[in-house]
Amino acid sequence: MKSILENRPALAKQVGDVAEVAGYLWQKGWAERNGGNITINITEYVDDEIRGLKPITNPVSFGVYLPHLKGCYFFCKGTNKRMRDLARWPMENGAVIRILDDCKSYVIIADNPVCPTSELPSHLSMHNFLIGKGSTYKAALHTHPIDLIAMTHNRAFLEKDKLTYLLWSMIPETRAFCPKGLGIIPYKMPSSIELADATIKELEDYDVVMWEKHGICAVGENIMEAFDMVDTLSKSAQIYLTAKSMGFEPEGTSPEQMEELKIAFNLPK
Ligand code: 13P
Ligand code: ZN
Repeated sequence: MKSILENRPALAKQVGDVAEVAGYLWQKGWAERNGGNITINITEYVDDEIRGLKPITNPVSFGVYLPHLKGCYFFCKGTNKRMRDLARWPMENGAVIRILDDCKSYVIIADNPVCPTSELPSHLSMHNFLIGKGSTYKAALHTHPIDLIAMTHNRAFLEKDKLTYLLWSMIPETRAFCPKGLGIIPYKMPSSIELADATIKELEDYDVVMWEKHGICAVGENIMEAFDMVDTLSKSAQIYLTAKSMGFEPEGTSPEQMEELKIAFNLPK
């Protein structure tokens, strides 16, 4: 069977980048079993031939009405599929979906009928939110970083922007490359519409949000950028943890040093 990626190098590159990041997630130890999910908006790579492809599944509802997604196409990790498998065989562990005109259901069009991630309501809600506000972001990533999840088990860290400032203060890179900080979403049932709604509310102010005691969610221009932000935040968490395990409270960069970075990098916050 011919893959949708054949003779479409730009689209193949996007899926290749997803596979590369999936490998990193596994190597980082953030992707136990089927943990985590990735979706990317590939509508700009879709040609008339793809638009004409017959669905290979019946329509499936994703449970929310998302008007900005009409006619959009996404590559999605499959539910219950492993990141380490997605890394090697992306088209066997993920699929391309088309959003139908009712804006609340999809069909799979290629290559295989791999059912999309159970977090599809959150992912599609994020993409809908991004398109609605005119953003050029195309990627959404959810993963299970050990250090950052552990931090959400401490109630004191769940206060608004407590973790943002703590993580920013561990290394200048985090301040510069995760400039909006880290939003916090109180625990909600995985895959729920409630979690999707809470996530897009928090995206008003942040590009990266923690799902308390579950994982992290990041949106970005592309999947590499989304991954880089999570990686940077996790590095900060590691520095904090390392200092603590050496028996002291890390000093952190001072408010003056952070202000200096804000000016130098022209940061929003
Ligand atoms: P899926 O296998 O359905 O993508 O779920 C993994 C996950 O991390 C749920 O939050
Ligand atoms: Zn998860």
